[in-house]
Amino acid sequence: MKYNFDKKVDRSKNHSAKWSEMDRHFISNDLIPLWVADMDFEVAPEIYEAMKEKLEQRIFGYVYRPDSYYQSACDWTKRRYGYEIDQKTLIHSPGVIPSISLIIRLFTNSSDKILIQPPVYQPFSSVVKKNKRTLVTNPLKEVNGRYIIDFDDFEEKCKDPDLKWFILCNPHNPVGRVWTKEELTRMAEICLKYNVRVISDEIWRDIVYKDYKFTPFASLSKEVEDITITCFSPTKTFNIAGLQASFVQFPRKEELEAFQDELAVLDIRRNNAFSLVAIEAGYRKGEGWLNALIDYLEENYNFLERYIKENIPKLKIIKPEGTYLVWLDFREFKLSDKEISRLLQEKAKVALQEGSIFGEEGRGFQRINIACPRYLLEEAIVRIKNVFSKI
Ligand SMILES: Cc1ncc(COP(=O)(O)O)c(C=O)c1O
Repeated sequence: MKYNFDKKVDRSKNHSAKWSEMDRHFISNDLIPLWVADMDFEVAPEIYEAMKEKLEQRIFGYVYRPDSYYQSACDWTKRRYGYEIDQKTLIHSPGVIPSISLIIRLFTNSSDKILIQPPVYQPFSSVVKKNKRTLVTNPLKEVNGRYIIDFDDFEEKCKDPDLKWFILCNPHNPVGRVWTKEELTRMAEICLKYNVRVISDEIWRDIVYKDYKFTPFASLSKEVEDITITCFSPTKTFNIAGLQASFVQFPRKEELEAFQDELAVLDIRRNNAFSLVAIEAGYRKGEGWLNALIDYLEENYNFLERYIKENIPKLKIIKPEGTYLVWLDFREFKLSDKEISRLLQEKAKVALQEGSIFGEEGRGFQRINIACPRYLLEEAIVRIKNVFSKI
């Protein structure tokens, strides 16, 4: 194999939030960390080489962004999703969540309501609340181990004239759905009918398993593109979240300019020197690595599913269609979230993300991050089995 995802990694001196900040959220730092969404894999050799070349220049002053940087994101989007975008509609931002927060500040009023679909990545609700906007939810429905959209409720919520924006998560963290073109089209039709604008968080767009297909929301039609602001980034794709860079696609020029002005006021409009070269290298040369990564993640998932079915039958596993996050259903144990988390930490010595942080719909669930060498995943699930198979 060209890339070795089984390689043992030592992140103890890596300033890793996942490994070294555990004691702020869990009982200690000596748990197996399967919580924060980054991967325990080295970056693609192509990214490493580009960063090394930059390092060897030994000067890290302010960087200028060449057109080829944005073009690499456009070319990638065209190649992988058949969606053509003009680089003039793209802008750099330090991250997807900062972008969503800024979009809310700039383009909504204090009386506006914003819709999300819990259980969902927890900053969606906090960013709405911290910006003092009203949060409205359209909870996803779990039907036989698969999450679907409650379209009647979605439409009811969108009918409210104060509901101005919807934050879509596609692929969805934590339930792992990659929304189909049909589902996206139905949501888009409702949004168009009731004048609801869409922020489409597509940070997970590149991590999608074989049998599924990702469709950019804005690619549905020109009409849909016009009501959408898309946030995407290769930081999950290539495990470079610590480089802090992302893209926002604005079909409306005046909104792009307002966003750009705001970044200029804060003087955070530039890339850092390393994100600039790492991202372009990833988009231009990292596809082979990414495809191999997805195969490895799929094997990790298959291993985990098999192991759980054979050894912990009361634990139900929700098959992800995308992302490297797996949603585990502990409800059959009939324990409180507090007790499940206590057992996982104190007895099994693993750090998973408690489901209820994604909304009350996540009660009884835990999210496990499977983007690690298999030996680590195996050790974690054996420890979980040793505790939970006796209950
Ligand atoms: C759906 C989703 N959006 C955004 C982020 C974070 O993005 P950023 O670090 O660019 O703010 C994450 C991280 O896990 C995520 O899962």
